[in-house]
Amino acid sequence: MKSSVALIGFMGTGKTAVGKALAQKLGKEFFELDALIEKKAGKSIPEIFRQDGEIKFRELEIEAAKSIAGRKNAVIACGGGIVLNTINIDRLRRECVIVCLTAATSVILKRTARDKAGRPLLAVGDRPAQIKALLKLRRPFYERAADVTVNTSRLKAEGVAGIIIDRLEKHESQRS
Ligand code: S3P
Repeated sequence: MKSSVALIGFMGTGKTAVGKALAQKLGKEFFELDALIEKKAGKSIPEIFRQDGEIKFRELEIEAAKSIAGRKNAVIACGGGIVLNTINIDRLRRECVIVCLTAATSVILKRTARDKAGRPLLAVGDRPAQIKALLKLRRPFYERAADVTVNTSRLKAEGVAGIIIDRLEKHESQRS
């Protein structure tokens, strides 16, 4: 039985808040991939994008995912672009059930409005168009990677964590 959970999904779907709540409910350790990347690089995500570019960021993301993927009893909140390199999901899948969080585009827009500066891919003139374009491109990747999918549009982090726990039990019983 897999002992860890990886949370994937678009920016603003609640991966960090839900991950913390889920880790607490399950008594597992919480990790945030973006924080690991920042620690390793010694700079913030916007600085990495600005100074080194997105390709370098993706390389750092692959390294960080590799370093944490085998961890047991962990809840790992991944960055929204983790699915773009299949190797990340292949590595995470060995020890993690992959849970994808989704939310309506309007909800994503509202949630990400608070932290535009922290998300370089959304620091653009037309944020709604950018979100729609990225979602269109990424949706098949999220769908392919997910073992379990939960829509977070109408729920608080605690509520989503509770639903995930139910769904993980069902997912496990289907496998055995
Ligand atoms: C990204 C999402 C961000 C962060 C980086 C790139 C993406 O994480 O990894 O800005 O490509 O979707 P969050 O999903 O936690 O905002």
